[in-house]
Amino acid sequence: MKLKIYRYNEEIDSPHYDTFELEPSSGMTVLEALFQIQKQFDDSLAFHYSCRGAVCGTCAMLINKVPRLACRTQVVPLLKGELKINLVPYPAIEEVTVTWNPEEEILVEPLSHLPVIKDLIVNMSTFFKYYKFIEPVFKPSLPSSEKERLMEPDALPELELYTNCILCAACFGACPIDGKNPEYLGPAALAKLYRFHIDPRESKGNKRLELANIPNGWWACEFYGNCTRVCPKGVPPTIAIAKARKELDNKGKSQED
Ligand code: SF4
Ligand code: FES
Repeated sequence: MKLKIYRYNEEIDSPHYDTFELEPSSGMTVLEALFQIQKQFDDSLAFHYSCRGAVCGTCAMLINKVPRLACRTQVVPLLKGELKINLVPYPAIEEVTVTWNPEEEILVEPLSHLPVIKDLIVNMSTFFKYYKFIEPVFKPSLPSSEKERLMEPDALPELELYTNCILCAACFGACPIDGKNPEYLGPAALAKLYRFHIDPRESKGNKRLELANIPNGWWACEFYGNCTRVCPKGVPPTIAIAKARKELDNKGKSQED
């Protein structure tokens, strides 16, 4: 198999692609293939990783034009066409025209919508700026006690859906709105905001939804659904956004009555 990899080093070169040939093996991930390339062919190849187990969220990149975790994406099923995810096309992936044969080549590029620092490493500052904006800290209704803060078990499944986010930014890189509107808070931040809004241990009457009740918050989403399709943890930002909008709409109507 061949890996066609986006290369960029501001100090040396203009952006281009390098191709490396490797022997695929059963269970080999794209991240392992990148390590092999570093070891055998080019130790200057730059990429982010940490846990190698789909936990830290640092290895998200475009693999065959789909944002995925490199540590979780195996090369053999990829070459067999078994990992297809159909996305609504967006300019960042359509405008970068590069040809590759998906049956024998894997195309590896940095995540879209974030500036490239080097090769496959992107600058996540904007992503985390929006994450910080939604104040992702628990604001409990009661002062701290010596006991745990309990909640009804029924509340847990929905809460967990959003708590599972590992901040990989795959959704950010797949969202057509993030591409055209750099001020949009993005799917991950909005899903996290909703997660705190529905936490039954939060103070009653919290104003969380209001934080994103702005044109570049809940209301900027056009429900393409790419975020939910690519999320490696099954987080559904589109559901959170739809529910938040409905709640805000209902609140607006009840205030009018
Ligand atoms: S919602 Fe999913 S895709 Fe988006 S940052 Fe969280 S884990 Fe990654
Ligand atoms: S290396 Fe941690 S999620 Fe891939």
